[in-house]
Amino acid sequence: MTVSPHNDALQVVVITGASDGIGAEMARQLAQRHGAGLALVLAARSLAGLQSTAEHCQGLGAQCLVVVTDVSVQDQCRALIAQAVEHFGHIDTLVNNAGVSAQALLQDVAADDLQWYERLMQINLWGSVWCTHAALPYLKARKGRIVAVSSLAGLIGVPGRTAYSASKFAMTGFFEALRAELVHAGVSVTVAYPGVVLTQIRYHGYNAKGERAGHSGLREDGAMAVGHCVRLIVTGMQDRQREVVMTTTGKIGRFLKLIAPGLVERMAMNALKDEVKPR
Ligand SMILES: NC(=O)c1ccc[n+]([C@@H]2O[C@H](COP(=O)([O-])OP(=O)(O)OC[C@H]3O[C@@H](n4cnc5c(N)ncnc54)[C@H](OP(=O)(O)O)[C@@H]3O)[C@@H](O)[C@H]2O)c1
Repeated sequence: MTVSPHNDALQVVVITGASDGIGAEMARQLAQRHGAGLALVLAARSLAGLQSTAEHCQGLGAQCLVVVTDVSVQDQCRALIAQAVEHFGHIDTLVNNAGVSAQALLQDVAADDLQWYERLMQINLWGSVWCTHAALPYLKARKGRIVAVSSLAGLIGVPGRTAYSASKFAMTGFFEALRAELVHAGVSVTVAYPGVVLTQIRYHGYNAKGERAGHSGLREDGAMAVGHCVRLIVTGMQDRQREVVMTTTGKIGRFLKLIAPGLVERMAMNALKDEVKPR
């Protein structure tokens, strides 16, 4: 009989966007909780960022595999999942977290620059679809967990964020439908809807020309600390919650939208700094 070199008891978690922000913090918090019982597969484009996350998590006892991945390329998503399985033998949890944001009024985007709308969709939506599709048989085999990091902008349209909101609404639809498909397989789907969280995402995101914005168009006072946001996602994931809606405004806003949509539009507009509001 061949003895498998893989350890079945290990909890294997694949996290996309693990080089920075929410994904990196998620890896660190999971390593802190589970130590040697955990294997992390860390994916993003920046090798240096991934290595820094891996070093921290290894220091807490977790095993780490770093896989440089651009989730906007389907083959790279498939290769990520294949490497995870080759290395650890199975996958318990897939966290679809990699994402980019954008801040631009549609009227300010030149027709020739509209390709970045597609690029953003390819990262935020298609990256999640491709990773999830590749991981599905392995997740079913372990009755595992899928986490999708959407956004409040995936529940409520935010002005200046037509591309971002579209990608996050699309994620919401995809993962809600998938959740129902997977009920009998015992695989849970947790969709997280953070509000404004203190990471660099808005600075890294696109402007109207599809270049790095370098500044935030949102009011950041009252933004959530990344550690707090991740604790809520991890609890939701472990308890197999359907949704993690993070802020009181978000919780109220989604119901208010049904009875007072004009008020919700004004609330969404108020989230913007004055200089980026439509003129
Ligand atoms: N921060 C917020 O206020 C907020 C609110 C709601 C939702 N979210 C969502 O939370 C998720 C994480 O955001 P964050 O705030 O942590 O942002 P962040 O600090 O900018 O981190 C984004 C992560 O995604 C990775 N990434 C970007 N493009 C990628 C690509 N093509 N392929 C692979 N990885 C890619 C980045 O790594 P590389 O650059 O190394 O590839 C980085 O690790 C996103 O989906 C975002 O939409 C954030």
